[in-house]
Amino acid sequence: MPRPAPLPLANAGPDQQPGHAAGTHANGRPSHASPRGHRGVRFFAEWIRRPTQVGAIAPSSRALARMMLDLVDIPASRVVVEYGPGTGAFTDAIGPRLGAGARLFGIELNAHMADVLAHRHPGVRIHRRSVDEVEAVCRDEGLSGQGCVDVIISGLPWASFPDDLQVRALEATARVLRPGGAMVTFGYHIGLMLPAGRRFYKRLPEYFPSITRSRTVWSNLPPAFVFTCRTAGGA
Ligand SMILES: C[S@@+](CC[C@H](N)C(=O)[O-])C[C@H]1O[C@@H](n2cnc3c(N)ncnc32)[C@H](O)[C@@H]1O
Repeated sequence: MPRPAPLPLANAGPDQQPGHAAGTHANGRPSHASPRGHRGVRFFAEWIRRPTQVGAIAPSSRALARMMLDLVDIPASRVVVEYGPGTGAFTDAIGPRLGAGARLFGIELNAHMADVLAHRHPGVRIHRRSVDEVEAVCRDEGLSGQGCVDVIISGLPWASFPDDLQVRALEATARVLRPGGAMVTFGYHIGLMLPAGRRFYKRLPEYFPSITRSRTVWSNLPPAFVFTCRTAGGA
């Protein structure tokens, strides 16, 4: 499968920041192609190494990506942040929906995943940090850090997060989203049975007055559903 075209980015800031992965090589081209099969192997290898951090054995399907993105208004968004982009299953699908002048950046803790993504999407800055630092990441992007994000596309394994990380990440997320902004995040049925997963889903209403759950995407491995979490206010 051919590598997708680099995504457009409005802010052409420095490609390499301390502690961050950036995908643009000196010649502006990726150093190697990363076909889907290779990405799948890389993803699985990372799951073996860090099962709770990666939280899935395979990248999300195109059907799940479509479901996630259909639930939010990407074309009308000025700032879109991707949490835990992994090898880019959602990143591939966000690009074609971004409006002119919009910006997209990712926050990915896993250096190997970030490298794969940087090669596939040299135009997208990937911050190698944890999502609970999203406010600092926004400031690094030249944004205010509060109420500055329209949409968050989350691929995070919330059901394997320790309690304190769940709380810090949700608090920071609620602060960076603009009034009427939204986070979409997927889950697996098994996650609803895990104590940390149950804590996460119970916790959501503390941060988001509007939460909806989608139908199940059965073609995903494993089948998944999507929560759309909206902050108060906005149009
Ligand atoms: C289930 S994978 C999803 C990958 C991709 N979005 C997809 O759907 O195929 C979860 C991703 O979240 C990343 N991750 C886990 N904890 C994180 C954290 N605290 N901050 C940023 N990324 C994190 C993992 O490294 C992994 O790439």
